[in-house]
Amino acid sequence: MSLLVTGIGELVTNGPDGDGPLGIRHDAALVVEDGVLTWVGARRNAPACDARIDVEGRAVLPGFVDSHSHLVFAGDRAGEFSARMTGVPYDGGGIATSMAATRGAPDDELRSLVAARVEEMRRQGTTTVEIKSGYGLTVADEARALRIACEFTTETTYLGAHVVPPEWRGDRAAYVDLVAGEMLAACAPHARWIDVFCEPNSPHAFDEAESRRVLAAGVEAGLMPRVHGNQLGPGPGVRLAVEFGAASVDHCTFLGADDVAALVDAADTTVATLLPGVEFSTRSPYPDARKLIDAGVSVAIATDCNPGTCYSSSMPFMIALAVREMRMSPAEAVQAATRGGAKALRRSDIGRIEVGAKADLCVLEAPSHEHLAYRPGVPISRVLGEERWV
Ligand code: NIG
Ligand code: FE
Repeated sequence: MSLLVTGIGELVTNGPDGDGPLGIRHDAALVVEDGVLTWVGARRNAPACDARIDVEGRAVLPGFVDSHSHLVFAGDRAGEFSARMTGVPYDGGGIATSMAATRGAPDDELRSLVAARVEEMRRQGTTTVEIKSGYGLTVADEARALRIACEFTTETTYLGAHVVPPEWRGDRAAYVDLVAGEMLAACAPHARWIDVFCEPNSPHAFDEAESRRVLAAGVEAGLMPRVHGNQLGPGPGVRLAVEFGAASVDHCTFLGADDVAALVDAADTTVATLLPGVEFSTRSPYPDARKLIDAGVSVAIATDCNPGTCYSSSMPFMIALAVREMRMSPAEAVQAATRGGAKALRRSDIGRIEVGAKADLCVLEAPSHEHLAYRPGVPISRVLGEERWV
């Protein structure tokens, strides 16, 4: 069945056939067949279709691509958040609290928690989400987290190297052996990516040598690398990500000139994924997005939705933070949340509106993409076809 979408006040294509970097078209229409875009053009040239939706002047853009989340967890850490707001710094130690709650949750409970979070994302216009493990930290619990994540997305990431769990604190090397050995073998069939929390500034996370070992083992097992780096202070994360040809290095809060230069050189390969909800929720300085973009770094923004550093599933909120706090233009922020996220996941079928792409569309209760940052906290975005304006 073919579906014609008309009445689009502003179509953000992220492609070359439109105005400016967002490839904006007015008076556009598009055709969807079997979940794929089969025609995009001027309304007056639109072909006849089996059905039609008129979006009555609303803006339509590619669905948000949330390229970094940790949705498989039980419990919450609201108390830790409150303590941080009174000045207690974040160091990753709270991950063990979520780990204990997650290990104790039955499969069905975890599955319905993930389902509710994915649904919450969709209600705000997110059509692709990457989901990491990392709150199991045993062979069985990491594999379970990834099996559940696979029920919701193809973008699953093995993060056994999230922190060293309490029972291994006396023997970090043995835990790294496990992560790079038996745990990897159990998880690789359920994962596309491997990630490591490379952060020598945290006593709980992994240093350069440990991170290198885990990434190398993951690549050997057929997984593609991505890295949590430079979140809590300067460190080797960006350098390592570039060295491994990682699809993204995420956080990038504390970067030196050498890190920026490395990311510029690697702009075709490695995306700097900025997670401004983390700085919001940890009261940290925001990454210097302006400097990165002006230098030529490829940038994405994502939620990092997790119980510790950012319990928000809202890409519109991240766009608003990126504009207000990181000095990105509304157009740059929208592009980073769509095409940037797609690039961070090495996907060319999402993050753009063109013939052959997936028909993952976000519609705004507004005439232009600028409203996403201009109307922070207002629920104006939905996945097209699921919109219910009340
Ligand atoms: O991306 N940095 C490490 N992992 C998460 C936080 C996880 C947590 O605190 O529960 C992050 O910020
Ligand atoms: Fe994260």
